Amino acid sequence: MSVTLKYHGHSCFSIAGGGVVIDPFLSENPSAKERPADIKCEGVLVTHAHSDHLGDAIQVAKANNAVLVATYELALYCQRQGVEKVFPMHIGGGHDFEFGHVKLTVAQHGSAIVTDDDIICFDNACGFLVTVEGKKLYHAGDTGLCADMELLGRLNQLDVAMLPIGDVFTMGMDDAVIAAGLLGAGLTVPMHYGTYPVIPADPEEYVARVQKNGLQARVMQTGDEIEV
Ligand code: NI
Ligand code: MN
Repeated sequence: MSVTLKYHGHSCFSIAGGGVVIDPFLSENPSAKERPADIKCEGVLVTHAHSDHLGDAIQVAKANNAVLVATYELALYCQRQGVEKVFPMHIGGGHDFEFGHVKLTVAQHGSAIVTDDDIICFDNACGFLVTVEGKKLYHAGDTGLCADMELLGRLNQLDVAMLPIGDVFTMGMDDAVIAAGLLGAGLTVPMHYGTYPVIPADPEEYVARVQKNGLQARVMQTGDEIEV
């Protein structure tokens, strides 16, 4: 059985026709085509609190009465913002939800909400290993290259890996190509580039370099859907 993966721009993807949405950042995303109200889901997965990931997650979770999954501290923060169903987790932990299995993976990155007069820090960011209909999809979140990716690839036959390539805040091109090799996923999809002038990576270059190493990669445009 196949699973649909849809790209909403930046680091936002939905899996399984709206079962799960990851990092719904739409209303403030200059490249997004959809509004938060367009997103239908049972689960909202948030890799970390930075505004380009937490984005519209609270609104989307409320509107869908969906369960919001994040690291413990961020999940409880979202609960205090009025999200009824939250499921706090932490790195290394997994859980079976109705929409599939979710495991939190290491991401070498920070997690904070920056307001005009405060910075609320949540310590760890994470990635997600999502298993739906027997398909394993890995969303790296925002992260630098890390050796944990080799272990993740060795222990899991990944069908798809979504990897940041934009540099500055995350892996850049060179490291993302190395990450694709460590993970050995059936397919990798680049993300977290081009949204802002500071992260202007060329996704076609990423794809060409990964393919040169004998692995599959493809660029998804905002709105694209693929069957995994
Ligand atoms: Ni970030
Ligand atoms: Mn980011």
